[in-house]
Amino acid sequence: MKQRNFVLAITGASGSAYAVRLAQILLRAGHHIHMIVSRAARQVAQHELDARIPADDASGDDWLKFTGTALTTGAAAAWGFSDCSDDFSGNCSVHGISDFTAGVASGSFLTGGMVICPCSMGTLSAIACGSSMNLIQRSADVHLKERRPLILIPRETPLSLVALENMTRLSHAGATILPAMPGFYHRPESIADCIDFVVARTCDHLNVEHSLVRRWSEAD
Ligand SMILES: Cc1cc2nc3c(=O)[nH]c(=O)nc-3n(C[C@H](O)[C@H](O)[C@H](O)COP(=O)(O)O)c2cc1C
Repeated sequence: MKQRNFVLAITGASGSAYAVRLAQILLRAGHHIHMIVSRAARQVAQHELDARIPADDASGDDWLKFTGTALTTGAAAAWGFSDCSDDFSGNCSVHGISDFTAGVASGSFLTGGMVICPCSMGTLSAIACGSSMNLIQRSADVHLKERRPLILIPRETPLSLVALENMTRLSHAGATILPAMPGFYHRPESIADCIDFVVARTCDHLNVEHSLVRRWSEAD
């Protein structure tokens, strides 16, 4: 399949590993990912993965290295990921959270879609209001106005009425709300299997091929 541009934003909800795994699959499928990371996301990843997300001024190669190692070292080393090689045919650009000059801030820059993974309630609320106060919010707003795929992967429990109404509003505006909510009918045996369930559904919505989980009714 032809290489596409995808924006991958990481915010400060729990579940940094979902983003790393999604980056691996998109890069392996040969796509170009545009990374944007919030300040809170860096704190959460440090805590959850024992891993330092590359800085805003890091190179694409730094990101490739990080993506290839973050799930087999540190805290995630025990989670059961076995196929984390860094033989990526795609590539990576890195954008600062305040860099409104980045291509992904404009509708004229073509992408195949944007994923915010995981998506905090704070970022969800800002997008629902159209604030565009940082590059993640602006790029999300661009995807909505251009009617391109925008997938939000929220993580919070329980959900307040405010969060539920924000999600409803965003769904009406064209976003896909795809909660970090793994199923169990594929009989997960590890944390990796649970993460792969959510990443697989995300890739399905981006029309990106993967073989992360067996599909329902596929033979054993
Ligand atoms: C360890 C940790 C876990 C967090 N988990 C969540 C979460 O699951 N969902 C959420 O909405 N916020 C969570 N937060 C709070 C967000 O990081 C915080 O609201 C932040 O302002 C979000 O900013 P951002 O949207 O710019 O990333 C967490 C914070 C920390 C330190």
